[in-house]
Amino acid sequence: MEVIIVREDRIGDLVADEIAALMARKPDAVLGLATGSSPLRTYDAVADRVAEGTISLARARAFTLDEYVGLAEGHPCSYRTVIEQDFVSRVDLPTDAVQGPNGGAADLAAACASFESAMREAGGVDLQILGIGTDGHIAFNEPASSFASRTRVKTLTDQTRLDNARFFDGNVDAVPVHCLTQGLGTIMEARHVVLVATGAGKAEAVRQLVEGAVSALWPATILQHHPHVTVFVDDAAAAQLE
Ligand code: F6R
Repeated sequence: MEVIIVREDRIGDLVADEIAALMARKPDAVLGLATGSSPLRTYDAVADRVAEGTISLARARAFTLDEYVGLAEGHPCSYRTVIEQDFVSRVDLPTDAVQGPNGGAADLAAACASFESAMREAGGVDLQILGIGTDGHIAFNEPASSFASRTRVKTLTDQTRLDNARFFDGNVDAVPVHCLTQGLGTIMEARHVVLVATGAGKAEAVRQLVEGAVSALWPATILQHHPHVTVFVDDAAAAQLE
C-alpha cells in the first residue's frame, strides 16, 4: 500500500494522473466510481482534462460501488443520479456504459447477481476509486462485513446514516436504512485501488486502514492484502499515522 500525504487541493489532479495513465495504456479500461465528497475533486480534474482533450473515456466503461434501496428512479440522492451529475454528464463516457446495482429492483438478490455478472463480463475493474467512511467502511461494507462478501443488500449503520444526512437536507430519517453494495471480495478484485480521504474526521479510519490489524471491524483494512493500493490523504486525515 502506497500512502501519499499531500495538500487536499492537489489530490484531484494526482488521481486524474492515474486515470490518464490508465486510459493512455488501455482506452477501453473499466473504471470503478465512488460517490460522496471524496472523489469530487478527482471528477472535476478528469472533466477538465476531457474538455482539454487530454483524456478520453469514450471507449471506457464504469461500475458504481453502491446504491440506496428504495429511492425512486431519478431521486436527487440516488447514487445513479449523483454520479450522472457529478461525473458522467461532464465527461465523454457514454451514459449506457455506466452501471450500478439497481436499488429499485423488485428482486434485490437477482439485481446483485446480475450486477456481478456484468462486472465479470466487462473483464473486471481496472481502477477503483474509493472513499472511506468514518467507521472504516468502503462502499457500504459496514463494520463486521465479510472479507469474502459479494454485491448484496446491507443495512446502513446509524453512524453512516448520520454522516450522509447532509445529502438529505440534514434529515437523517430520510436516509434509507438499506443499500446494495459491492462486497469486499468484489472490491478486492479491482486491479488498482485508489482511495482518497481528507479531513480530521477520517483520521482514525485512515490510521486503521494503514497501520491497524486487519479486522472485519475496520473493513477497509482488507486493502492491506491487496497488491496495488494507492492512498491519497491530506495532513488532517494523516494526523494519527505513526
Ligand atoms: C460512496 C461510498 C462510501 C463513501 C464513504 C465516504 O459510493 O461507497 O463508502 O466513499 O462513505 O464518503 P465521503 O467521501 O462523502 O466522505
